[in-house]
Amino acid sequence: MRAFSFVGLVVLSGAAVLCVAADGSWLKRVPEADRKRMNPMAAQPDAIAAGGRVFEDHCAKCHGEDASGRGKRPSLRSERVQHATDGEIFWLLRNGNLPKGMPTWAALPEPMRWQIIAYIKSLGPNAPAASSAAADTKPN
Ligand code: HEC
Repeated sequence: MRAFSFVGLVVLSGAAVLCVAADGSWLKRVPEADRKRMNPMAAQPDAIAAGGRVFEDHCAKCHGEDASGRGKRPSLRSERVQHATDGEIFWLLRNGNLPKGMPTWAALPEPMRWQIIAYIKSLGPNAPAASSAAADTKPN
């Protein structure tokens, strides 16, 4: 009996978590050695182009065509993602965060995952936020 109600509680709290915005708590679970991994393809134009195509195929349906998020699925142009190390994002792509709706991408070959990361990092921070900040400082 007790075991069943425990399972019920886990399922319920899992459902509750799906209703809140992504909070980046996955970052705390990345081991130090993974955090420090370097992207062998960082900032390489070919890798960025290839990563963009993989992104379109696998990630755009949740994170948006331009990676600025869709519904509860977070933007990948956010400060959090743009400031995460390549190794941290690589860890997330390998492990996913399924209870919060982010699948694992361990089935994609490693070079493809590094290409996607090169692509994400090429996007820079949120464009709309930057333009509204610019609008605020415009003289009247
Ligand atoms: C089925 C929908 C779905 C797909 C497909 C998907 N994601 Fe996600 N992703 C999510 C959700 C939901 C989260 C938020 C998880 C959380 O709350 O921590 C997330 C989180 C992330 C984060 C961390 C964002 C943050 O602000 O903490 C990154 C980076 C990411 N995804 C990259 C990708 C990449 C790259 C792909 C394609 C290979 C991809 N995702 C495909 C749903 C998806």
